Amino acid sequence: MSKSENNNLSSPPTGGDRNMKIAIINGPNLNLLGKRETDIYGNMPFEQFFDLLKNKYANIEISYFQSNVEGEIVNELQRVGFDYDGIILNAAAYTHTSVAIGDAVAAIKTPVVEVHISNVYAREDFRHLSYLSGKAAGSIVGLGLKGYELALEWFLSR
Ligand code: DQA
Repeated sequence: MSKSENNNLSSPPTGGDRNMKIAIINGPNLNLLGKRETDIYGNMPFEQFFDLLKNKYANIEISYFQSNVEGEIVNELQRVGFDYDGIILNAAAYTHTSVAIGDAVAAIKTPVVEVHISNVYAREDFRHLSYLSGKAAGSIVGLGLKGYELALEWFLSR
């Protein structure tokens, strides 16, 4: 089993007793998780993982938004960025190219945790640059879909 397939969400809920609103925002091609380069990203479609996450953290309001369009990601960051408690953002390839998404992360009030399923630092050089990292509260890379849950746990622990 690859790291990105190890999504053990069967343990009992931790935290989740707080009335929090967390947004998950995924960027381009992440709608193809489960079909796309499964050796890198694993076999689980994000919707399936998201259902497990919502079950485990039933007391938290978790929204999920995915877009292949840069400006739509900026719009969603602005929409949730002033009254949600946390944003978990995997901007995918836009991480490495988008000044606009980086500016949006800087402009909003809600803290952002940047997540990457794969270890971008073990991949091509162009993936080592992030326009988001310097503006995010923190980054989690290379831990598969588990990274989203770890980001959620961090928001709960604050
Ligand atoms: C990714 C890493 C990016 O470099 C890539 O463009 C993606 C996915 C990840 O989750 O590992 O699409 O953000």
